[in-house]
Amino acid sequence: MNKKEKRLIPSGFLAMIVLVVFVSGVACVLISGHKINVRRENAVDSKAVADNTSSYDSVSGLSSDAIAPNAFDDKNNLPEGYKTVPVLNENVNKGQLILVNYQYESKIDGENLVNLYDNLSDSVGIKDDDMFINNSVLKPMNKLFDDFKAAQGDTSILISSAYRSKADQTKIFEESVKHTGEMSTNYYVAKPGFSEHQTGYCFDTAAYNYDGEMIELDGEGFYKWLADNCVNYGFILRYPDDKTNITSIGYEAWHFRYVGVPHAIAMKENKLCLEEYIIGLQSYTFEDGPLLIDKGDKGKWLVYYVPRLEAFNNTDVPVPVDSDKCSYTISGNNVGGFIVTVDVTKDPENALFANAKKTWSFDNSSVIIKDFVDYDPDQDTFTDTSSDTEDDWKSDDYWDESENDSYSESEDYYDENDYGYDYDY
Ligand code: DAL
Ligand code: ZN
Repeated sequence: MNKKEKRLIPSGFLAMIVLVVFVSGVACVLISGHKINVRRENAVDSKAVADNTSSYDSVSGLSSDAIAPNAFDDKNNLPEGYKTVPVLNENVNKGQLILVNYQYESKIDGENLVNLYDNLSDSVGIKDDDMFINNSVLKPMNKLFDDFKAAQGDTSILISSAYRSKADQTKIFEESVKHTGEMSTNYYVAKPGFSEHQTGYCFDTAAYNYDGEMIELDGEGFYKWLADNCVNYGFILRYPDDKTNITSIGYEAWHFRYVGVPHAIAMKENKLCLEEYIIGLQSYTFEDGPLLIDKGDKGKWLVYYVPRLEAFNNTDVPVPVDSDKCSYTISGNNVGGFIVTVDVTKDPENALFANAKKTWSFDNSSVIIKDFVDYDPDQDTFTDTSSDTEDDWKSDDYWDESENDSYSESEDYYDENDYGYDYDY
């Protein structure tokens, strides 16, 4: 063995040690990475996400500010100014854009509720002191009724119902069947578990008639202001007269649902009910291009859908890095994913503008149109309208008795029947 050979033996040995150390290092990184990943998934509990109504929470009850960015993202795939945050998949059932209807049960039982009696503006009355609403709804609701009073000089409106538990809804459903029968109940009252009142994001409006009975608002006369202006406060008329075949609920002039300003405006401008909007939004994705809701000086928003990753506990949701410049909210849709709303009013250079779609278009073949049977409360009869193009509730006949747009006139409509309008639907 010469000098050179002698030196070679320890070099090979050293090389082996280096190799072993390298392989163990890689293994450690992989193992610890896995551990971190598991810990991260377990650490983000849904309550922490849902309860974190941080500064930018103007649209959704869900925020993800408190969650650390996911260290395992392929950041190269994200456009400039975006990162991802992991959101627990169970949050698909939470937030201001959840669709709850005969198909999609409410998986929540009112979250972040506040008492209305203690917090409601004096501009509007309230039926009793035991009523609650999601806290994100309170401020816009108060503003809506303050401005209604300023515009119409009226203080006769009452909030007759807001959050309802499944047990409350069961009671209402049963009472309604008892007083009005099954057919009219199915027309106006959601089955227990399937009422959006259970979410805490909606309320009913009513007023007392001259007989001192509380009746649901008919949306006529000076009350029409509410339907005309509610979207500017983030509310929609949830059960419109021309969408009963989709909502599967009769026209309810009294029931308002909070979805947030940009969404309410987009729905009104495109004549969409919540079913159509939520299903349609699924084609506006982060990758293929968000929906741009452009209200000029009033604001600009980009909206995109992120499907839930079925194989995991959570989904990496892309959001802006700078939430001061671009505040954002994340809401579940209760159908299968998340809707992200980014306020880009202060960020004209936002990378997503390049791909954004300015007009609403979608294939509504995936929206279920039911053979809805229209109910005529005057006759207590039902008409199959599946082949009608015009909804009977929209026709003049229905409103004949209240066509003068005054409350005293419209109350006749209610006086002439006893179909339980004094119940909270
Ligand atoms: N009246 C609405 C549809 C409800 O019962 O939730
Ligand atoms: Zn209602």
